[in-house]
Amino acid sequence: MINNPLSMVMKKIQEGIDSRHSDYHIMNVSYVLNTQIKTSCTVIRNLTDNAIWFNTDFRSQKVVALEKNNQACLHFYSKKDKIQMSVACTLVIHHHDDFTKQAWEKASLLSKQCYRQIGPPCEAYHEETAQLKLPLKTAYENFATVEATMHTIDVLFLKFGGNERYLIDMHTKHCQSVLP
Ligand SMILES: Cc1cc2nc3c(=O)[nH]c(=O)nc-3n(C[C@H](O)[C@H](O)[C@H](O)COP(=O)(O)O)c2cc1C
Repeated sequence: MINNPLSMVMKKIQEGIDSRHSDYHIMNVSYVLNTQIKTSCTVIRNLTDNAIWFNTDFRSQKVVALEKNNQACLHFYSKKDKIQMSVACTLVIHHHDDFTKQAWEKASLLSKQCYRQIGPPCEAYHEETAQLKLPLKTAYENFATVEATMHTIDVLFLKFGGNERYLIDMHTKHCQSVLP
């Protein structure tokens, strides 16, 4: 049996923030756009008390979707560790606040380039505008940081001797072993 699944999960999430080589660096975010379920890759950026943070373009579909439905699922899988983690959460978009400012200051110049494109990320490619770039100051207007408050973590440890699955309530920190 895993000794302390919650501390193991937190360690892995932190590893994803600290190293771009970690399997936990990229997570899938699933959200609901109208009646459609969508999934996008994102880079994990921060972990606070009970929330995971990632950055996004304020013009993206995710932001539009969250106005109607802010429930989402973050999904991680490490082939190396044979661990799957599924995090049920509520998303809050931060735009033009202190959190946005801090995240922008922390972002590398390379990451900031993503927010310099003309038009939303999901828009069709236009040859005339694709080469043009917005000034960095304007790019900040397109930048948002997203706070994903965790409710439950469903974690599965794949093992030869028998898989182990736990449901962790992130409000009470209660961890329950369940059959895989
Ligand atoms: C490896 C990888 C990392 C990505 N990281 C992010 C990210 O941190 N934030 C983000 O908004 N989009 C990121 N994207 C792009 C998204 O997957 C997606 O294409 C874009 O955000 C538009 O998604 P949406 O239409 O669901 O809003 C990444 C894509 C890849 C392939």
